[in-house]
Amino acid sequence: MLESFFQESIIKRANEKKLATIHLHDIREFGVESGIRKQVDDYAFGGGAGMVLRIEPLVNCLEDLEKEEKLDEVIFMTPDGKRLTQQHSNELSSKKCIALICGRYKGIDQRFRDHFVTREISIGDYVITGGELAAAVLSDSIIRLIPGVLSDESSALTDSFQGGLLDAPLYTRPEEFRNLKVPEVLLSGDHKAIEKWRDEQALTKTKKIRPDLLED
Ligand code: ADE
Repeated sequence: MLESFFQESIIKRANEKKLATIHLHDIREFGVESGIRKQVDDYAFGGGAGMVLRIEPLVNCLEDLEKEEKLDEVIFMTPDGKRLTQQHSNELSSKKCIALICGRYKGIDQRFRDHFVTREISIGDYVITGGELAAAVLSDSIIRLIPGVLSDESSALTDSFQGGLLDAPLYTRPEEFRNLKVPEVLLSGDHKAIEKWRDEQALTKTKKIRPDLLED
């Protein structure tokens, strides 16, 4: 799932330009020997439905990685983590080496979360089947901020959320389509007026769709 994702899009470009490198690691390779298969999960102590990822494969994998490079962050993708915001991505884009842990099963051993994980991040208040898609989302949002990754660098800075507001509406040609007109001011060439209009629009849109952003 992640291999194909990372071979596409912006991440592929970042990789080619050597601005970001992604390595995928299969936890099973670090599993506990048990007959034919290496074991990575087990029943929850105290009972309950669902399997739990064991601590040893996760720690063995991290320790193997740290032989090569110090990990600045070990992030566990989980629906009960802190909800991802642009501010997290901005902060993480200046880190050199980040490990993202994608959980499966019911969860992972709490000892790993308590002693090896530096942050827990959720991509939203809903549950998806594994952490892989969440890791893909987080990677994309971090990597696009690395200078040189986007062809027009300013476009990452003017994204929605960067100024704490949603983006103003955008229009392109034609100026009129079936009587639907582009706002006059955008055609005026008056840069000051355009900027003022965009600021007002961004504020109005944010008030309407995401008033919580203004409270923050
Ligand atoms: N794994 C399952 N659901 C998730 C979510 N919402 N965010 C991060 N990781 C997850």
